[in-house]
Formats: sequence, C-alpha cells, structure tokens
Amino acid sequence: MSFEPSARIETVLQEERVFKPSSNVLGKYSISSFDQYQQLVDSAKSNPEKFWGDAALKELHWFKPFDIVLDWSNPPFARWFDGGKTNVSYNCLDRHVLNGLGDKIAIIWEGEPGEVRRITYKELLIEVCRTANALKSMGIKKGDLVALYMPMVPEAAIAMLACARIGAPHSVVFGGFSSEALRDRLNDGQAKAVITADGGFRKDKIISLKEAVDAALINNSCPTVKSVLIVKRTKTNIDFFPERDIWWHEIVPSQSIECLPEQMDSEDRLFVLYTSGSTGKPKGVVHSTSGYNLWAHLTFKWIFDVQKDEIYWCTADVGWITGHSYIVYGPLSNGATTVMYEGVPRPSNPGAFWEVIQKHKINIFYTAPTAIRAFMKSGRKIPDQYDLSSLRLLGTVGEPINPEAWMWYREIIGRNNCSIVDTWWQTETGGVMISPLPLATSTKPGSATFPLPGIQADVVNSQGETVQADQGGYLVIKKPWPGMMRTVHGDPKRFRETYWEYLEPIEGDLVYFAGDGARRDKDGYFWIMGRVDDVINVSGHRLGTMEIESALVSHDSVAEAAVVGKADEIKGESIVAFVTLETDNAPSEVLMNDLKKHVIKEIGVIAKPEEIRFTNSLPKTRSGKIMRRLLRSLASGEEVKGDISTLEDKNVLDELRK
Ligand code: WTA
Repeated sequence: MSFEPSARIETVLQEERVFKPSSNVLGKYSISSFDQYQQLVDSAKSNPEKFWGDAALKELHWFKPFDIVLDWSNPPFARWFDGGKTNVSYNCLDRHVLNGLGDKIAIIWEGEPGEVRRITYKELLIEVCRTANALKSMGIKKGDLVALYMPMVPEAAIAMLACARIGAPHSVVFGGFSSEALRDRLNDGQAKAVITADGGFRKDKIISLKEAVDAALINNSCPTVKSVLIVKRTKTNIDFFPERDIWWHEIVPSQSIECLPEQMDSEDRLFVLYTSGSTGKPKGVVHSTSGYNLWAHLTFKWIFDVQKDEIYWCTADVGWITGHSYIVYGPLSNGATTVMYEGVPRPSNPGAFWEVIQKHKINIFYTAPTAIRAFMKSGRKIPDQYDLSSLRLLGTVGEPINPEAWMWYREIIGRNNCSIVDTWWQTETGGVMISPLPLATSTKPGSATFPLPGIQADVVNSQGETVQADQGGYLVIKKPWPGMMRTVHGDPKRFRETYWEYLEPIEGDLVYFAGDGARRDKDGYFWIMGRVDDVINVSGHRLGTMEIESALVSHDSVAEAAVVGKADEIKGESIVAFVTLETDNAPSEVLMNDLKKHVIKEIGVIAKPEEIRFTNSLPKTRSGKIMRRLLRSLASGEEVKGDISTLEDKNVLDELRK
C-alpha cells in the first residue's frame, strides 16, 4: 500500500486561543465538568467491562439482558453484549411512547420548498410498523438486506427503522451516486429489495432516482433484487414494471399499525454502509445491533445534551454515516426532536440554513466545515438577516475545521454565545470518538480536543510508539469500543488488513488505524490533520483516489490515470487527475469534458474531477509505483520537494511542470 504521510502531517498549526465552556449550556444529560469527565475516563480505563456493561443496561431496553459485555478472544472481531436480545426500533420508538412521550414530535421535516411535516413518536411508531408489515408482505425476512436510495424525506428514516424492526439490515446508498455505483453496492450486498422515490429535489433540479434504479437493474444485472418500493415525491413520470415495482402509497397505508419488533441478538447486523478506502472498490462497513445503538445513543447524549423541549438539527444526508447516527438513531434513541431538511443552500437561496434555524427555533445545529467556509466566503450579511438567537450549541463534522472557520462559526452564527463541538469520527467508528463536551471541555479553535470516555486514542509512529507532544503521527484507537464496525461485508480479511494490521502491534495488541494523521499538543489536545492514505475528502465526502482512477481508466481513450487531492479553500480538497491517453488519442477540451462525464456516470457527481491534466507519462518509481507525492505538489503548483532519487525518468517532471 502506498503510504506517504510525511508531507501531510508535518504542518504544525499554532493556536493559543482557549474558550471555556459557554455559560448557556444547560446540562442534565451530558457530563457536567472536566472533573467528572476525568472520572469517567478513569473508570472506563480501569474496568471497561463494568463501564460499558452499566451503560448498556442503563441506556437501552433489553428483551433479555446480555451474558457477557465483550468477547475479544478473536481480535479484531469483537462481540459486544452477547446473549442479549434487543431491537433498535423499540429503543427509538416504543419505549418513548410507553414512557409518555407519544405526543412529542420525533421528526420535523422541512421539505423543498417550504413544506413542513411534524411527526410525533406515536405516529412514527405507527408508520414504522405499517412499513415493516409492507416489507414482510413483499417477502422480506430477517437477515435480508434492503437497499435504500432515497431523497431526504421522512420515509427514508421510516424505512430504516422498519428494516430494524423486522431484522432486515439496511444499506443506504446516497442519492448522489450513479446507477453504476448503486449496482455495485446492490450486488456486493446481495440486496433483496430497493426502496427509492420517483425523484428527489436537489438544488433547484430534480434527480431521477427511479430511473437510476431501473438502469442499475437492467437486464437482470442485480439478480437478487426482487422488488422496488417507490415513494411518490416529485411526481416525475417513471417507467413502472408491475412484476417488481410497488408504490409506497399503494401498499403501506393499508397495513396493520402493529408489528411486533423482532428480538435481535446483539451481534445481528443493523446495517451495511459503503465507504471509500485506499484500495479497491468501496467496502461495506458492517455495524451490529446493540453496540452501535449504545454508541449512537451515548455519544448523542454526551455531546449534544439535548433538553426536553429542544430542537436539534443535523444537516447531513441519511446516505452518510452522520445521517444514520445523528439524524436517525442517536436522536430518536434519546427521545429527542430531530429535523430532517430536504434542501441545501444554493445560489438561489444562500440563507436556506439560517431560514430553517429561524423558522423552527433550532437550539442545536450540526453541520460540516465545508458549508461554514462557503458561508464565510459570502459574508455575514446573509446570516445577519435572520434571528439565530435560539441557537445554543454548534457542532461540526466531516473534515478538519480551520481556526478561521471555527471562529467565524462561533462569532457570526453563535454570537459568541454557543459552545462549538468539533467531532472527529468515521463511518467505521459508528459514532463520535473525539470531541469536546459542552459543559466540560475548554475548546481551542481547530482542535477536536479529547477522546470520549472509554475511547483510548493515541498518536503513534509507524512502529506503534506514542510520539511526543506536537509531533505528527498516526491516529489510532487502542481498545475496542461498542460502536466499532464489525467487519467488511463479505471480506473479513480485508477488515483485518486495512484497519488492524497497518501498523506494528502495540505491546502485542492490535490497534485500529483508519487513515488519519494527528498531533497532540502539550495540553493533550488532539489536532486532526486529515487523511494520510489515498483517500481524499471533498466537501466532507470521502473518495478513494483508486476508485476515481479506475473510473477514468475504464474510458476507451485512457491508458493510465493518477488522482490526487489539491487544497481547496471551500471544499477542503478538490480532485485533480493526471491522465495518459491510449495511442491515437489526442488531448482536447472535448475529451476532457467527456472524461468528467464518464466519472459522473461511473461514480456520481461528487467524484467529478475539478481538473484533468493530460500527460505523456506519469512519474513512477523504478518498481512502477506512481509517485503521488510529486503529483500532489504539482497539482497545487508547489515546487517538488524531497527525495526524487527513486524516480525512474526525471524528464517526466519537466513535462508535467509545463
Ligand atoms: C474526516 C464522517 C477532522 C477524517 C463522520 C475521517 C474529520 C473521515 C472530522 C471520515 C473532524 C471526520 N476533523 N477530520 N472533526 N470528522 N473527519 O467515514 O479524515 O465519511 O477519517 O465519516 O472524515 O469520513 P466518514
């Protein structure tokens, strides 16, 4: 595996500002002081089984309690809460209804444009039961994988919970992925059904979701898929295949409003979610029932401390892990009110987010640095037109946040009156791992601060030794935690190799490493420095360079391709592709556009290269490996530094510089 961390983790940021926890934070659910945080850290460390076991009994409902907290006898394959029986939809719905929260709003849906639906816990439970019964009537059984390819409508959350209710793992595929990408995921997961919509509204346009599903399934390309359930959203004309297609409104409303929750084993799968890595095709990250539920629940409670009547909004899409853990499972497991927003800010409505905050009096707001940087660029004039005084806590996720954007978020959106929680985590970790706690942690702009209780994070060198303060290294987790991914769907070997055998074992123990560089400062604060592997992060979307390269090479005129990330003021990184052509093909503007379109077709619009540079050859080592480090410097217009002695043909550099 190519691995050139030094260039990226060398940069040391100087940041001395410290902000005490804001005085407006309430606290009841969260950890109330740094001392209490420290006590929890210590007790989790000295007796992890008791710490996690107590939390699981206290926070979740069990049909039958577990016998063992953790079985780590076959690392890295963890088993949490074995012997226990539970159901995530019960934890998210039934128990709140039974506890008198039936009339509380569970989901506020802000549709595009301006449509609103408010769904109480009782109503949500009914809809989930009906949908679960509809899935059963379509032949879906416990253990069958159901794919979702949906816009941001309440039916997406309802479908996820309905799957959980009957024990059918879901696999949500982001609606921005192409039909080809969808097909790969359907086949890898052996999905039995797809839930979709006729279309989705996206930035003043309609995306044809059903058409993409049809294209993915064409000529029996996904033989395991037997049915397609379609929500009517945009009223777009669609092709309807009666032998497999079913309208949601024709099957769901007539179902019984009762559906007993399946009693699931703790380690039964809750979902598979595909994510990009350094090698090969996207991997299906597998999360299981109890461990994931506990981690989404606890982290939501600790970090957002949502009070009884508060409104919480996370702007992610349910197609990503943030949508799973912090729009659906974390908030609902805690009985909170969660907002789902169908739109996105766009030139025709740059104040979209602030309008929603003002309209629904949002108290806790969770978004991505890329959005904050985009708002910052268009100035404070837009947010200043809205009443944002309901806000009391602001969160960010998805990529490193630069101190300027952090300060802007605090001053302009939070009016210096809101704590900021910069939360580091990954699809693989299930929930947040490193984050400030609003009542306990003093923050520094740009730092995710400290690991949550029970999480043993460290920064190490490639020998697995802890590095000194302010030195860059690899961010690792040294002990298992309940929300950790369990395996790569269908490929346990890849799970072990990718995440647990990357670095030397520490004192004989396997450590988890998923590709980020970090440093810890003299006060112990963690500063995440971004990916050190061949993964790039474009507007918080994770993409493997190899995936994009494979897409380019699958075009008839391309011989070879190398893709790197280039720093981008708003998106964090943008995609630059270096391409060599097959003989008889000449570089041209037309071909360049054609290649961009080809990548959109193969993966989706999020993977479109910003720049394509044609070249006669790529810089390679004598053993034939592409030297991405050089390409990264060239892409960002920097002088190529460092050792080039392994470069096979030095003339390549001169050509590329031109
Ligand atoms: C990056 C998203 C810095 C990181 C939840 C990680 C971050 C990848 C932060 C996972 C943060 C996420 N600061 N970097 N607060 N949060 N990342 O799987 O590189 O889509 O490895 O999960 O996003 O992306 P994923």
